[in-house]
Amino acid sequence: MSSATTNLDAYWMPFTANRDFKAKPRVISGASGHHYTTEDGTKLYDTFSGLWTSGIGHCHPKIVEAVQKQVATLDYCMSFQTTNDKAIALAERITAMAPKGIDHCFFTNSGSESVDTALKIALGYHRARGEGNRTRLIGREKGYHGVNFGGMSVGGIVPNRKVFSAALIPGVDHMRHTLDIGRNAFSRGLPAHGIELAEDLERLCALHDGSNIAAVIVEPVAGSAGVIPPPAGYLERLREICDQHGILLIFDEVIAAFGRLGHAFGAERFGVTPDIITTAKGLTNGVIPMGAVLVRDSIYEAFMQGPEHMIELFHGYTYSGHPVAAAAGLATMDVYKEEGTFEQARGLEQHFEDLLHSFDDHKHVIDVRNFGLMGSIEMAAREGAPGARGAEVHKKCFWDENLVVRAGMDTVQFSPFLNSNPDEMEQSFAGIRRVLDSLE
Ligand SMILES: Cc1ncc(COP(=O)(O)O)c(C=O)c1O
Repeated sequence: MSSATTNLDAYWMPFTANRDFKAKPRVISGASGHHYTTEDGTKLYDTFSGLWTSGIGHCHPKIVEAVQKQVATLDYCMSFQTTNDKAIALAERITAMAPKGIDHCFFTNSGSESVDTALKIALGYHRARGEGNRTRLIGREKGYHGVNFGGMSVGGIVPNRKVFSAALIPGVDHMRHTLDIGRNAFSRGLPAHGIELAEDLERLCALHDGSNIAAVIVEPVAGSAGVIPPPAGYLERLREICDQHGILLIFDEVIAAFGRLGHAFGAERFGVTPDIITTAKGLTNGVIPMGAVLVRDSIYEAFMQGPEHMIELFHGYTYSGHPVAAAAGLATMDVYKEEGTFEQARGLEQHFEDLLHSFDDHKHVIDVRNFGLMGSIEMAAREGAPGARGAEVHKKCFWDENLVVRAGMDTVQFSPFLNSNPDEMEQSFAGIRRVLDSLE
């Protein structure tokens, strides 16, 4: 370990096997473009573009410049009862990129905060319209909506909920997840089977009466549970059922927005417009923490009643619309436009799909899934040691192949740069193949 990491023990790492990590740390101290640099100067290729965050590469000069300029101009400004020019400009910019009718933006600092904000807005909206009975929230098994109480409760990843089960918010139901390896293994793009799973929502409407349900939240493509694209027609069907019952549809696009699915929003890619969109990550290319909740005009307007001097929504964060984050966001949107990032991402999809599916017949692999620039290779679990193969892939890639990859249990997930270079992509998959070949 280098001298720079002497106090490693003080740091309680998130979503990390701390003891295992600290026994042989993997510390990054620099980044540029598509590579990280470790403390000893080793260059590593980043196969995950940050944590789904940094689609246009690390330390993009335009964003660096905008942040440096902003921090020396307006470092912070009170976010309640006053605001800053950059937050206003960014709200205007991203609502202009959103599907038609989604015209208002509330800023947060993360995906988790965006989700909890969206759930609160949904409840407040119905109450403002005199339908305060609509309190139930519907999520989905295997959904990931961050780690705050609301997002954890509508989420469906078991270890994230298990320890906190007594504290999950009440009035939440889950639809079944759509992962069906039996019928859909090795599908390219959207799987053919499973549209009928959307009828779970009808069943919950029948059980509770749809008039008691406030909102349904789904990731258009489930990410953290191992990249699970929706069955063809599934999101369209959810939209129909929501419309029939007056339920708000929330797309959690913390991953899907800003190019990951080749468009500004996943909603555009699917041609399905939700009522609320939650975002974060690619909003600033991961440079400064920031999230946003985008809502339909009618939702915003429902709150705009009562005495005009009164606060309409008792919710917000000290750092909502932080000027430095907003400056990073504006520069990010500029780059997306100037460099044609979303088109670039679409242009890479076929190559990415082919590289991923070259693992279809690998001896350890039981499924390969992809949509847009999201993908995963699911390995069979080693007998008696679920997750061991995935952890080994992560470490061997880091130490032997100079690759940073993400493994969730035995699924290796991929989030290539939106402006990836095809050669680098090929080389990284060649390294991953060597590692998979070497596994027991
Ligand atoms: C779909 C989705 N929602 C919410 C979150 C939580 O975001 P954060 O970690 O910024 O709180 C994530 C993070 O990966 C996510 O993928």
